[in-house]
Amino acid sequence: MSNFGSMQNAIYNAGLQGILPDYPVDFATLEQRAHEALGPMMTNYVAGGCGDEHTQDVNASAFHHWGMIPRMMVDCSERDLSIELFGMDLPTPLFMAPIGLNGEATQDRHGDMAAARASAETGVPFSVSTLSNDPLEDVFGACGNTPAFFQLYTPRNRELAQSLISRAEQSGAKAIMVTLDTWLTGWRPRDLNASNFPQLRGKVLQNYFSDPVFRSLLEKSPEGDPKAAIMLFAAIFGQVLTWEDMAWFKDATDLPIVLKGICHPEDVRKAIDHGADAIYCSNHGGRQANGGIATIDLLADVFAAAGDVPVLFDSGVRSGTDAVKALAMGARAVGVGRPYTYGLAIGGAAGAAWVLRSILAEADLLMAVNGYPDLTALREAGVQRTD
Ligand SMILES: Cc1cc2nc3c(=O)[nH]c(=O)nc-3n(C[C@H](O)[C@H](O)[C@H](O)COP(=O)(O)O)c2cc1C
Repeated sequence: MSNFGSMQNAIYNAGLQGILPDYPVDFATLEQRAHEALGPMMTNYVAGGCGDEHTQDVNASAFHHWGMIPRMMVDCSERDLSIELFGMDLPTPLFMAPIGLNGEATQDRHGDMAAARASAETGVPFSVSTLSNDPLEDVFGACGNTPAFFQLYTPRNRELAQSLISRAEQSGAKAIMVTLDTWLTGWRPRDLNASNFPQLRGKVLQNYFSDPVFRSLLEKSPEGDPKAAIMLFAAIFGQVLTWEDMAWFKDATDLPIVLKGICHPEDVRKAIDHGADAIYCSNHGGRQANGGIATIDLLADVFAAAGDVPVLFDSGVRSGTDAVKALAMGARAVGVGRPYTYGLAIGGAAGAAWVLRSILAEADLLMAVNGYPDLTALREAGVQRTD
């Protein structure tokens, strides 16, 4: 049984001693403070999205047109927010979405390590991105007893892809999340206007630079000739994937394969037919394609098509209320994205842990007030469109 909501008592009790919280509990204040900490270039990269950012905006606002009806006279004095995923019992239904710029989000530029420590502290699994300022071995090592996943940007070079997967396996990854929507970068006006693409400046490439296969493709080491290493990264970053590639992934690892970026029920069915172990419904937070539909509006159909196969979800989750709505619609686990990176920006590991705990506390208290003692009751109650 969880009691994430007790964070609220701790905050009010500290207030009686004259102590205010170090970090905010609401997204608007968090975002504002994080933008100040990150500065304009980084804010553009993290906060920005594709085109006029309509998809990104509706990802978050669409949660408002879903609502829940509370149930009364139910004993909710104890809540159970635990889930089962890939044979593991996890204490929370959240996970940290892969964010390839975490490394740059903290002042010491080791934000991936800070994110991993936040995961260790909170029990919320971390999805370690291919793009990282610290090698994945170190990042997995910092996750403590909390299980972690590896997110793969599949490179064009299959040996390198295999090497990354094998390194993740050896580091204890519990699943491989293959991101499908990013074999190239979407049109991001904020970054284009500032002519800023961090990877081309050599940032967050340590998983490549530390990789034996990647290094073997270079004449000089990445330390000796960083420019050549960056150019090699740019040349081999993105492999266009088709359903035929699933056989290769299934061969490459025994770990569960999670396909990230699936939004269409027909793709859900194809993914399952081709051996996917989980569906990850996401539109990359609106960073890759504009002109889309909020993922929360697509989740019910994705869930229906997935049957018993677990559905992970992200894009637009800003609060515990959002997370509860996604869980009510059938998500097995809900991914927190930008909010925890903003937590890293304002407070490193402690800031990210605070953000995750706030989301859990709000979710827990909402379930308590609404009469849902556990996720099964929540799912039975469901959500309704309010417009
Ligand atoms: C700055 C930034 C970097 C990201 N990097 C990755 C990445 O390396 N791999 C990946 O699969 N998704 C990446 N994503 C997408 C997230 O995993 C997630 O889908 C998205 O953040 C969800 O949207 P939200 O943050 O608006 O809720 C990134 C998102 C942001 C904001």
